[in-house]
Amino acid sequence: MYKIDSVWYLVGGVIILGLTMSELRVFSLILQIVALLLIIIGFIALKKSTSMKEGISKHGKIINVGYSLAILSVLYMAYSAYLSIIGTGSIPPLVLVHGSLGIITLALGALFVTNRWSWKSKRYMRIELVLWLAVFLGGTYLYLVISGAI
Ligand code: HEM
Repeated sequence: MYKIDSVWYLVGGVIILGLTMSELRVFSLILQIVALLLIIIGFIALKKSTSMKEGISKHGKIINVGYSLAILSVLYMAYSAYLSIIGTGSIPPLVLVHGSLGIITLALGALFVTNRWSWKSKRYMRIELVLWLAVFLGGTYLYLVISGAI
């Protein structure tokens, strides 16, 4: 899995270098939508699977790809947050709330992706799903504000 992740990051890095900030914003949103869809598909795959062992394996593989895509997009977000902080001299409250919740969500997700089995319980995964949806919705709102749509 780590080898596949490295390839993803390399491909992402090459693409990112050639894009403008507003193109990156759209690219990042697309990555986030695909990541969320993969996470949801990962949960459905587990529910639909007849064999528990096979279901868990599929669930893990699909969600790990989604998590990797999200990390790629968060590189852009961290850069955008950095530009906004040095540009205004302060952190916009919405970015602070979204970013902090995002870091917690990614940290909890990292425990699953790196197979910390004591954390891989249904309860924590449900909490992660709710957190992820909340952070995604907050980020989408940020996107609409920054791009001037609302
Ligand atoms: C699970 C983790 C996260 C999710 C699901 C998420 C989701 C999103 C989404 C959907 C957007 C709007 C589209 C886009 O620009 O990509 C966004 C924007 C943004 N996010 Fe996140 N985010 C996460 C973590 C973070 C973290 C850790 C930070 C801070 C370091 C952060 C800072 C931002 C900023 C500054 C924007 C606005 C970027 C811009 O439009 O220029 N996000 N986020």
